[in-house]
Amino acid sequence: MAQQQGFLKPGERSKKAFGVAFEGNNDPYVHNKKQRTQPPTSHQRRPRDADRLPVAKYRRQLLYLVETHATVVVLGETGSGKTTQIPQFLDEAGWTEGGRMVACTQPRRAAAVTVASRVAEEAGCELGEAVGYAVRFESVMQQGMTRIKFLTDGVLLREMMEDPLLARYSVVMVDEAHERSLATDMLLGLLKKVQRRRPDLRLIVASATLQAEELRAFFDPGRDSSVVKTVQPGPGAPVQRTPAIISIEGRTHPVEVHFLQQPCSNYVVASVETAVDIHKADLPGDILVFLTGQQEVEDAVRMLDREAERLSASSGYGSKLLPLPLYAGLTGTAQAVAFSPAPRGYRKCVVATNIAETSLTLEGVVYVVDSCFVKQRAYNPLLGLEALCVAPVSKASATQRAGRAGRVRPGKAFRLCTAQDFAKLPDTTVPEMQRAELQGMVLQLKALGIDNIMRFEWLAPPPAEAMVRALEALAALGVLDQDARLTQDVGLPLASLSLDPSLGKALLTAFRQSVPCSQEMLTIVAMLTAAPHGPWVAPPGVRKALDEAKSRFAVVEGDLVSLLNVWRAWQEHGCSAQWCAKQLLNQHSLRKAEEVRKQLARACARLGLPEPESCDGDMDHLRKGIVAGLFMNAAVFESTDHNPLAPESDPGTHVYRLIRPVGGADATGVRARSGGRDGMGRAAPGATTGALDAGRLRLRIHSGSVLARCRPEWVVFQTVQQSDSGWYEMQGVTAVQPDMLLEVAPHFFQKSR
Ligand code: CDP
Ligand code: MG
Repeated sequence: MAQQQGFLKPGERSKKAFGVAFEGNNDPYVHNKKQRTQPPTSHQRRPRDADRLPVAKYRRQLLYLVETHATVVVLGETGSGKTTQIPQFLDEAGWTEGGRMVACTQPRRAAAVTVASRVAEEAGCELGEAVGYAVRFESVMQQGMTRIKFLTDGVLLREMMEDPLLARYSVVMVDEAHERSLATDMLLGLLKKVQRRRPDLRLIVASATLQAEELRAFFDPGRDSSVVKTVQPGPGAPVQRTPAIISIEGRTHPVEVHFLQQPCSNYVVASVETAVDIHKADLPGDILVFLTGQQEVEDAVRMLDREAERLSASSGYGSKLLPLPLYAGLTGTAQAVAFSPAPRGYRKCVVATNIAETSLTLEGVVYVVDSCFVKQRAYNPLLGLEALCVAPVSKASATQRAGRAGRVRPGKAFRLCTAQDFAKLPDTTVPEMQRAELQGMVLQLKALGIDNIMRFEWLAPPPAEAMVRALEALAALGVLDQDARLTQDVGLPLASLSLDPSLGKALLTAFRQSVPCSQEMLTIVAMLTAAPHGPWVAPPGVRKALDEAKSRFAVVEGDLVSLLNVWRAWQEHGCSAQWCAKQLLNQHSLRKAEEVRKQLARACARLGLPEPESCDGDMDHLRKGIVAGLFMNAAVFESTDHNPLAPESDPGTHVYRLIRPVGGADATGVRARSGGRDGMGRAAPGATTGALDAGRLRLRIHSGSVLARCRPEWVVFQTVQQSDSGWYEMQGVTAVQPDMLLEVAPHFFQKSR
């Protein structure tokens, strides 16, 4: 079977048995049960299936610890019932009495929604009644009725702006803490602050990996004399400020790990071949493949579909292979298919992104094929540029992925790298805080009144250089003043809009410029926010049709203005679902954009901005609005690269150069100011780094952009992605005029001649 791929056989040198040993009842941190006070039980407990989950055995212990400790760290293998059960335990034990709620945060919006509906089902209520959820721009809950609320960590952060002490919650469970998302880390720092003012607030930090000591040390008041160690919030046992740790014994089976004998050159192809080999071996059990992104997942599913057809034609195999995609951008129904059991006579092969690593559990998986790669944010402070890059996973991640194979019975994991290469991988993933662009985070902390961000208590401090860059960029956007405080006209309104700072600035400008284009910008910002990967659906095998569909809406101004076209056409066709399907548009994304647009318009009205107006087709003013937000992402065409080996007809690659302060004259006529003063009275971005080598950074327009084949001279872009071959590829590209840059951001650009 999969040995054909060149995997080491088990028993050969690199065999690695998988199995995480959890401490059970002997956990040294668990208090003596005899001390336990009865939790106030207000709801009758009904026996249910979930009582068989590993966490069920720890119910009493857990409730005792929550009662007696300000912070409880819960460790437990994925699938042990942390997310779905613990909030219910707390509800049943009376933590939601008096109108307070239990919050459970998730790093991913898809997980918050899925888990909430599962728990509502278990609790026997309609979603939005006793159990609800809140993700950005979408809240399904009722004040006064909802007792358990699943929400993204980002939404809880936003709630802190209106309710800094989180008064409506009795317990906050920060789930999936091992993921160390930017928002999770921020939240942990803030919750630590809140706890000092609210001794009655309980915090549960749930993690699938063993980082307990780090978390405990972080929440331990230790020798900090300003903190009262023990407080008495009323009747009952005194509350320990030192965190408790509880490990939930997993119910996992051993997983045999196989490595490649030779490195593979294309992990997408290799993963497909491996899955097919497993299927041919005809042992029962579903297959889960880990790739890095939507495109790869779709490519692999397409290849697997072809293979499945071929195999069933040649027959001889007991079950048919059923390839299914799973990624965050998928609609709810398509995701549900991946979760439901395979029909009789079929074997599921779910091809997923990192979303299936810990936050969503798939039952029935016995084989895992791991590309050993992940797509993640990577920030280069020198260039001031964040790109999505495909990077090798950490060992901890690979262990998690392999563990997905051992849920129902002993399983197998096939890693698409050699044992030697695997040994070189980092042990753990670098927290997002230390590899992301920090503008949004700084804006949010400022809005929460955290003035000295450098001295904020971090679980892992962000790199100082990235922090300085974020402060500089926010100053250039006019968000911060000379004293690094939020400005009245931009900073404060942006903080309440909950948008990416660049998009928020573009929106504010659209309302305020001499010829307003706020109607148009509201649409563009709503579309970008509701469907960051674009409003298109691409069923496997229709790439050409998709390109054609896109080109029907394409305009020379670029991707953002083309989105506006899509929206308008949709409205003109009465928001029809059939029309959407014909145009390969995702009706669900457009509906969501409509909702986001409404909410944004209301938020803008509350901020006292004028009624939205249209620029009636004056594209220059619309582009100026876009430039006001994205001017720091400006690039100029430099040359066309010709591959000497390519045929003559090959148009070559159009190379762009990022316009960053590099000093010296520039033949293009416009350059970023260097050594100048920005709004904070300090040197403009980049000036501190001297002759910044942005000139060497080779950018090109992403092939998915409507401008990919147009070669505009000057552009601004929204995001950057790094290609396999190392190119930085611009996405969300808008063609601009150099005059626009000079006019809109004179503090950032100057004429070089
Ligand atoms: O949070 P943790 O990974 O510890 O487990 P969980 O998400 O609470 O899942 C507990 C059990 O519920 C697992 O066996 C899942 O397969 C199941 N579950 C499910 O069937 N459907 C969901 N939407 C969520 C969980
Ligand atoms: Mg969970």
